[in-house]
Amino acid sequence: MRKIAVLTSGGDAPGMNAAIRAVVRTAEYYKLEAVGVMRGYHGLVHNEFIRLHPRSVADVIQRGGTILKSARSNEFPTPEGQARAVENLNDAGVEGLVIIGGDGTFRGGMRLHEAGVSVVGVPATIDNDISCTDYSVGFDTTVNTVVDAITKIRDTATSHERIYVVEVMGRHSGHIALWAGLAGGAETVLVPEVEADLDEVCQRIESGYRLGKAHSIVVVAEGVGGNFQTARNMDESSAFHIGDYVKKKTGFETRVTVLGHIQRGGNPTAQDRIMASRLGAEAVELLEKGYSGHMVGMVHAKIKATPFDEALKQQKQVDLDFYRLSHILASQ
Ligand code: F6P
Repeated sequence: MRKIAVLTSGGDAPGMNAAIRAVVRTAEYYKLEAVGVMRGYHGLVHNEFIRLHPRSVADVIQRGGTILKSARSNEFPTPEGQARAVENLNDAGVEGLVIIGGDGTFRGGMRLHEAGVSVVGVPATIDNDISCTDYSVGFDTTVNTVVDAITKIRDTATSHERIYVVEVMGRHSGHIALWAGLAGGAETVLVPEVEADLDEVCQRIESGYRLGKAHSIVVVAEGVGGNFQTARNMDESSAFHIGDYVKKKTGFETRVTVLGHIQRGGNPTAQDRIMASRLGAEAVELLEKGYSGHMVGMVHAKIKATPFDEALKQQKQVDLDFYRLSHILASQ
């Protein structure tokens, strides 16, 4: 192998730049030429290659976002788009491709692998919802951002003795909500994976009040729409419905905060930089060894390669011990 390419795709995640840096510099170590593909699969279809040298990735390890940009492509999912992507890779003399992103990115990688391209994936999504890896790059930074927000909200919640409903990202999964809820000391955490009863949420707030808790923080994962026994048919902005319901039922003054895209930005934590560096380097080593159609993951603190199809057919479970523990600790 003489030349490899790297791209980032899907929602950006803090630590993607550290992963790109690791890919480019590991490639240099193995005397491989490295190119970057701008704007993910869109750039692959439109031939947006740039040469990357070890110095091109200087000063990026600490930066959030992705220097290669990210985009959603309507063309790549089509057979014509994929044929153009393969043609462009062949014309550019690329013999191996590292893709950095989430499950949508890996589905695209699977198609390229089936078309004969050597592809290895690095899991990077704030949602941490990719199975066959305990960890995805970006998750730790996001959890810390959310905990920081909860800490600030707690100050005003305490001062005004209010209930705060805080909506966090995660698409269809509750990993961010569970980790940040536990670390932020939230009184209630609501995730898509566990059906909840809003009346129970209200009872918990009321019994907390009787224990002397005049404020309460409810962390809601954005995927929690219509997941309640009491209030089915909720639309996507479930945090506002929950806020209304709690206010009406308990009579407590309630505020809703939707954290939104602030959760995707910021300097990556040390954990994200280290994970990105290890997984990015390993991806190049796997390509060197002749692997394709695999993602590199971290399983029980060890790097492990798993075929894309195996990882994609499983749904990553949330740790229900976290759910139980956060409620036990908050209800005393
Ligand atoms: O997958 C990352 C993520 O931030 C999800 O948590 C969220 O649902 C989604 O992306 C938002 O996507 P967009 O930035 O396209 O609105």
